Amino acid sequence: MQNLGVAITGSGSAMPANCLDNETLSKLVDTSDEWIASRTGIRQRRLASYSQSVSEIAATAANSAIAMAGISPLDVDLIILATSTADDLFGSACQIQTQIGATNAVAFDLTAACSGFVFGLVTAAQYIRTGVYQNVVLIGGDILSRWVDWSDRSTCVLFGDGAGAVVMQASKSDFLLGFEIKSDGTQNNCLNLSYSPEYQALTPDIEVGKGNFKPITMNGKEVYRFAVQRVPEVIDKALFRANITAEQVDWLILHQANQRILDAVAQRLNIPSHKVISNLANYGNTSAASIPLALDEAVRAGQIKTGDTIVASGFGAGLTWGAAIFKWGI
Ligand code: ACO
Repeated sequence: MQNLGVAITGSGSAMPANCLDNETLSKLVDTSDEWIASRTGIRQRRLASYSQSVSEIAATAANSAIAMAGISPLDVDLIILATSTADDLFGSACQIQTQIGATNAVAFDLTAACSGFVFGLVTAAQYIRTGVYQNVVLIGGDILSRWVDWSDRSTCVLFGDGAGAVVMQASKSDFLLGFEIKSDGTQNNCLNLSYSPEYQALTPDIEVGKGNFKPITMNGKEVYRFAVQRVPEVIDKALFRANITAEQVDWLILHQANQRILDAVAQRLNIPSHKVISNLANYGNTSAASIPLALDEAVRAGQIKTGDTIVASGFGAGLTWGAAIFKWGI
């Protein structure tokens, strides 16, 4: 009999070395450590260097997840890179395939902003549950610092760069207990990194756009309101599908956007703060990387143990949001 269950058996992460703390950032824009820390919980963020690529940090994270899972890169059937900041608009996952030597794997990018990791988890699970693939590497990686307006204090204080990865494997039992993913395009204008073409006339009758993107714009208040309302709802749905209650959850790993959002969501779900994983003080909002990065740190610190029940929930641009409930590492 074929193994059609999903097990998450390895994690890894990679962070750029450059660290920008709130104090230093306060010299670039009119802000303060006090404002940033009290409104968001963020103290510092890692920033990729000028020449660092998403595929490079993603490949490092992937290699470390593969090592933890105890498989060879040659065993990997599928690589999904969840990113909004690919090095190449045609996709960066194939570069990762080459860098990690996963020559048997098919590789593609998936874009769902800060929900990308949860959407990727659900996507990868479908390939495993249908028996198509046995070993999947899912990476969340973003270099948002490329697309931030570093003179806009309302956004530049929030974001950081990084990558996190997991290995998902076919297993006899299914440890992905439940999920729910959602989109609402009517609120798309709340958070954008929009294509902004330059006019280019080819002939008197034909004009095309020359590629260019505007920096990130965000209606912070709307996104905040959306997150504290929709995230508890989607987690409740996923818990229902998993047929478990919030009390049975060992760890809550939310997209690391704002400590106040983490606190409000946990409170609504009656999940005590000691079960809430938070590392945003050190890294800020790393978009698709934030959940696998927090997961990997907690696993390597011995906090998350084999068999623990984890709720992971992402939310962000699209707007998109979702939750996945799984047992770690069996
Ligand atoms: N330093 C100092 N003052 C600032 C700063 C700053 N960095 N930024 C804004 N302010 C000022 C504003 O100008 C405003 O001043 P005013 O009252 O004189 O007009 C005041 O501080 C309050 O600004 P608000 O925007 O109302 O601050 P708020 O408490 O809403 O916090 C924040 C802003 C942190 C962005 C919050 O709204 C938030 O976290 N929103 C959610 C963001 C999020 O979760 N994004 C996730 C998705 S990311 C993705 O998908 C890529």
